[in-house]
Amino acid sequence: MNSRLLNHKTIAESAKGKLHLISKLIRERKTTYAFSFSSKKVTNEIIEEIVTNATWAPTHKMTQPWRFELLEGAHHTDLGKYMLDFYQKRLSKHQFPKSRHQETLEYAKNASMLAIIFQRNERASIPEWEEIAAISCAVQNMWLSCTAMEIGCYWDTCEASIQYCNEYLELASNEKCLGVFFMGYPKNNLEKRRRKRKPLSRKLTRDYKK
Ligand SMILES: Cc1cc2nc3c(=O)[nH]c(=O)nc-3n(C[C@H](O)[C@H](O)[C@H](O)COP(=O)(O)O)c2cc1C
Repeated sequence: MNSRLLNHKTIAESAKGKLHLISKLIRERKTTYAFSFSSKKVTNEIIEEIVTNATWAPTHKMTQPWRFELLEGAHHTDLGKYMLDFYQKRLSKHQFPKSRHQETLEYAKNASMLAIIFQRNERASIPEWEEIAAISCAVQNMWLSCTAMEIGCYWDTCEASIQYCNEYLELASNEKCLGVFFMGYPKNNLEKRRRKRKPLSRKLTRDYKK
């Protein structure tokens, strides 16, 4: 556990357990790519729990500007094909060598994939960035829910995935795909390695106004 976890003597007894759990979960959350997913499926029941948690994210004026579409059936093969074609057309042989073709082709094979769809509500008259901020909160809720269940996952916003969704999903005129949330059980237990964070001293400052 990170040494920066709050000294529990400084908080009320009743909050101890909850804070410890949430801090642990937040700091255990990480990106796990679909290459490392096993064939074990994430059940519908679990997916529904994850998406329900997404919908509990805060939204300004309660616009709830999202919907999620589970990509099933041929999407598991077609997204990989699309990615392969996309990168072959745009990247040099050096940037995208042959050794990566097969894994790209099979990238979506074992993943449960949720297209993240932003539904813009013009009548709400709030800035678009607030709506996207709300979706980001929803995605974080999904990411933390997956972490709690030891499901590997991440938010993929690469051009290939977004373009794929734009081509193959039925999006209304006020809708925009903001990427795909990949989920799956890692082949081995989740690796412990996490990306480092900059020190708090660089991220928390104080301004005292007299
Ligand atoms: C809005 C957003 C979009 C992201 N898009 C991608 C992506 O397209 N491809 C990718 O490899 N990772 C993507 N990520 C994952 C980040 O690279 C990752 O969260 C970051 O490196 C920190 O690593 P961690 O999640 O393990 O803490 C995205 C993350 C966020 C928040």
